[in-house]
This record gives sequence, structure tokens and C-alpha cells, in this order.
Amino acid sequence: MPTQDHPRGVFVTFEGGEGSGKSTQIKLLAERLARDGRDVVVTREPGGSPGAEILRHVILSGVGKLLGAEAETLLFAAARDDHVRAVIAPALARGQWVLCDRFFDSTRAYQGRVGGVDRALMESLQRVTIGDLKPDVTFILDVPVEVGMRRATARRGAAAPDRFEAETIAFHQALRDAYQAIAAAEPARCVLIDADRDADTVAAAIWSALPARLTSP
Ligand code: TYD
Repeated sequence: MPTQDHPRGVFVTFEGGEGSGKSTQIKLLAERLARDGRDVVVTREPGGSPGAEILRHVILSGVGKLLGAEAETLLFAAARDDHVRAVIAPALARGQWVLCDRFFDSTRAYQGRVGGVDRALMESLQRVTIGDLKPDVTFILDVPVEVGMRRATARRGAAAPDRFEAETIAFHQALRDAYQAIAAAEPARCVLIDADRDADTVAAAIWSALPARLTSP
């Protein structure tokens, strides 16, 4: 329930490059919070709501890339707008914990810092889609590019790489640098986690980095 100290639920986002282990860590954190009696919603971007899942399909098919970086950014923004209104904001208003696999830092890293999309456009879209709805905490899972690519390839098996998995090593290195820069620029919200360790060690690091004000009963 929302209280005086927590007028809304708790919003936690997970960020990182391909194969950084976000989904494993979200699952582990959701289980731990649930054991503590917290009401948890797990969601993801692009997608997370029926409308946004349709856009996810369009984006990951590579159509956005053909349209150009700005148009692709608009598709991510449209998906986020629907996801925030249909899922995230209502869950936070109910006092739930929302764990989201990627959020606006993905747009800032992939389309902004690496893709070179105009900053003013990015800021306008951010204002329209999320307004003041910033995450309480963002975990940025950091792994060397070769490790992430190896994990992503193993997970994918025989399937073809999607739009972003198919990018070059240089792209993924620039992405890692972009995430590190975001973490350094916003230390009050972002925690950079060394994710080149076994899953339980990473989960323990994430748990101990959650601000006590959020996890105290
Ligand atoms: P997904 O299969 O969810 O990848 P991952 O398991 O790495 O999270 O695909 C989402 C892809 O979309 C991923 O490569 C990152 C990219 N993306 C952006 O470029 N901008 C965004 O705003 C978001 C949310 C994702």
C-alpha cells in the first residue's frame, strides 16, 4: 500500500548490453521480494503492454532500422508511452514494485549516445512519454563485450540474431561505454553492477545496493 514515505510503489529498471544477464537477475530479485511479501510486477521494453508488444515485433524485425534512426526512436517512444500508461503507472499507483527489463536509459544509450539521435528530440520524447516517472533505482549490468556476445549467442541457439544482436562489436563496445557514462552521470539513481560473475553473486550485489529505505518493512 502507498504510505507517507512511499506515496507510490517502487520502480526498478535493469539495463545493459546483450547477454548482460538482466532477465536472470530480474527473476531472482522478483523471487526475493515476493518471499519478503512484496507485491511485484515484472515487465519489459520494448513491449510490456498489448499495444507495445505489437510495436516490439515491428522494431525487432528490423523495419525501424530501414526507416532511419529518428523513426525508430519514435517507435520506441510510442511503445513506451503505451506501456507506461497501461502497466507501469497503474501498478505504481497501486503501491506495487515494478521491475522493468530496459526503460528510457536504453533509448538514451542505443539511440542517443550510440545512434546519434538529436538530443532535443530525445528530451522531448522523454518528457511526453514518461514525464516525472523516473525509476527509483536503475541497475546497469556491465559485462565485457565478448562475454555478453558469447552469452547471447549461446542463448539464441539456431535462431537468427535480431536487429540489435546483429550489430558490430564496435557498436556493442560503444554501448558499454554509453551505459558506463550514464551510470557516472547519475550516481543517485544508477548503480553499475559487475555482471561478469556467477548469477548468485550478482544477485547479492544487486540486493545490497537497493537503498534501505526501499526494502525496510
Ligand atoms: P530484447 O530481445 O528485449 O533484448 P535484451 O534481451 O537484450 O533486452 O530486445 C530489445 C532490443 O531493443 C535490445 O537490443 C535493445 C533495444 N532497445 C533500444 O534500442 N532502445 C530502447 O529504447 C529499448 C527499450 C530497447
